[in-house]
Amino acid sequence: MTTIASRETLAQVDPAIHAAIGREEARQRGTLEMIASENFTSTAVIEAVGSVLTNKYAEGYPGKRYYGGCEFIDEIEQIAIDRAKALFGVEHANVQPHSGAQANMGVYMGVIKPGDTVLGMKLDQGGHLTHGSNVNFSGKLYNFASYGVDRETETIDYEQMAALAREHRPKIIVVGATAYPRTIDFARARAIADEVDAVLMADMAHIAGLVAGGVHPSPAGVAQLITSSTHKTLRGPRGGMILCDEAFARRIDRGVFPGAQGGPLMHVVAGKAVSFLEAATEEFKAYSRQIVENAQALAATLNDAGLRLVSGGTDNHLLLVDVTTKGLDGQRAEDALARCGIIVNKNAIPYDTLPPAVASGIRIGTPALTSRGLGPQEMRQVGALIVQVLDAPEDPEVARRVAAEVAQLCQTHPAPGVPRE
Ligand SMILES: Cc1ncc(COP(=O)(O)O)c(C=O)c1O
Repeated sequence: MTTIASRETLAQVDPAIHAAIGREEARQRGTLEMIASENFTSTAVIEAVGSVLTNKYAEGYPGKRYYGGCEFIDEIEQIAIDRAKALFGVEHANVQPHSGAQANMGVYMGVIKPGDTVLGMKLDQGGHLTHGSNVNFSGKLYNFASYGVDRETETIDYEQMAALAREHRPKIIVVGATAYPRTIDFARARAIADEVDAVLMADMAHIAGLVAGGVHPSPAGVAQLITSSTHKTLRGPRGGMILCDEAFARRIDRGVFPGAQGGPLMHVVAGKAVSFLEAATEEFKAYSRQIVENAQALAATLNDAGLRLVSGGTDNHLLLVDVTTKGLDGQRAEDALARCGIIVNKNAIPYDTLPPAVASGIRIGTPALTSRGLGPQEMRQVGALIVQVLDAPEDPEVARRVAAEVAQLCQTHPAPGVPRE
């Protein structure tokens, strides 16, 4: 249920922040959020995150803290752990990582040493910064080799992964992506890891909700280590987690604390617990199915209008669209859509010839709009709006018409958890 947030105290103490939050609420209500990594968490999660738990220090783990007064904190963290374990069917869960990046750092800190070799996915072909980018701690501290996607199919090149694994003998192979529209074959990656005595780490940040809902194969029981953020398809609060077998539990816990972090954000851990409860429902299963159906409806509409989709379509919650077929680049497409209230991000496409700050593509996701209750019919409507804008990015009349339709869709599909005006 959407609440009316008054925030009277904040208005008095800090009018600037109060007003800016109000403007952000209006932006969230009034635009179509199609950034593939964003979502609307529930009012229940927001209430947990906005609680007095933010006051409490709790370095350590349930029953083994470095601070007194943790009896209720222990209860909350244990509930979050138990729910994460049950939801994903794993032996051990660490729910303390502050974010997906921190989860990955926790694994590297716990399982390998600086200078060790890791095999990850190329950033410009769908991987994440923490999979070895040289501007990130991962690429600075560890010796990363990178696999990519096949030039023809634009799907993960497992042959290349295997060849690089044999050549570099990594300690860890990382699978999982930030901008990859296809199903990830965890079993194939595990076979490659086994062949070279590496550990398989599945970074399911983007697809955790699809895994929880049963619409993407689970890495549980396949990858020894699983990392995730909790705020994307999973619809939890902004945060991270690590799941693993009991054999890795101690190393992972030490990798997160004291390895990578200090005290946990217990208000966020409570929010994670709430979101795991919500994700274990039949309603959530239907939601995750709907995310994929919506992405496929959108893909068909864009494809029919002559836009090239990387890999030809999607199996999950996102599409990568090559906008050069419309004479555009990613930045121009992002800006033109934003002017009409459709929010996406520019994104490199595999073997992109443009620099990342411009890029040849846009990444479009359906999780947030699905949370607003849009179905395939509305997705076709949204797809048609996107095409109109990309066909005439500078036409003010098109922008006016599209913006009016966007406003109408926002009006009829309230954003969950965002207070009404
Ligand atoms: C695959 C993957 N891993 C890790 C992260 C990092 O998550 P966070 O932004 O919560 O640190 C992301 C975020 O986009 C991601 O896509």
